[in-house]
Formats: sequence, C-alpha cells, structure tokens
Amino acid sequence: MKPVALASDHGGFAIKELVKGVLDVRGIPYTDYGTNSDESCDYPDFGAPAARAVSEGTSDKAIISCGSGAGMTIVANKFPGVRAVNCYDEWITLLSRQHNDANVMALGERDIDPDEARRLVGLWLDTPFEAGRHARRVSKISELERSPETAI
Ligand code: RB5
Repeated sequence: MKPVALASDHGGFAIKELVKGVLDVRGIPYTDYGTNSDESCDYPDFGAPAARAVSEGTSDKAIISCGSGAGMTIVANKFPGVRAVNCYDEWITLLSRQHNDANVMALGERDIDPDEARRLVGLWLDTPFEAGRHARRVSKISELERSPETAI
C-alpha cells in the first residue's frame, strides 16, 4: 500500500497530527511532509510536496489541512491528476469520493472539531468512487488538464 501523503500549515497542524492517529489505528502508512509545529508558516510550502506526491504517483491519496481548508485545496489543484476537495461536512466528503474520485482531502481546522475530523477522514477513506457516468465526467477533467484551450 502506498503511503498517504500528509501536510498542513500551522492552522491545520493539530488536524494533521490527529489524522496520523486515524491512519495508525487502520494500519495505513503515511508520509508527513510537515509542518512540524503550530509556528506560523505558508501553506503552499507544505501542501505542494504532498500534492506532488499524488500527482507523480508516490502516493494515491493525500490528506492536507490548514485553517479553512481553502488554501490547501487551491494549492493541490495546481498539480496534474490531483482532484482536491475541501471536505467541510459529511455530504461533501461522501460526494467527493463517489462522484469526483477525489484523491486529495482538504480539511479546515477552524471549521471542524476533532471528533468530526476523525469521522470525516474515516468516511473519505472508506467511500469508493461510483464510476459509471461519473467516470466520463472525471475523464473530461483529465482532458482539460492536457489541453485546456481545446478539450471541450
Ligand atoms: C493561516 O492564517 C490561514 O490563512 C491558512 O491556514 C488557511 O486558512 C488558508 O487558506
């Protein structure tokens, strides 16, 4: 099993540490790309290496966090093949996997309490992609990445 890539800034540091606990219980390996404390830092510095790991195939999935989840989502979606969704509740967490085949989960620490974060991470890891008509739509995203001017 490939390691799940983990990253946060200071605003998402506590969630990143909590996610490690969820993965440990499930026996899922991970690579922690930092940050390593709650000292102020810039989220792209840590989100980019984790998203690159997914984009390059070192990891199949990443879980990244910041204060809102928004900055990390924007950073991750700059990388080819990455489909990052800010999972702020159960519904979007479920749909991000079932319909969008999200391979990067972003979490906003200032928006989600620890128990909710644990629940959402478990739900995201356990929910399969439904494929079918959604596979056609996701493949159009890949086409857009290859030729944004002409694909659609
Ligand atoms: C840091 O203050 C905060 O801006 C960051 O954690 C994140 O919310 C950015 O989107």
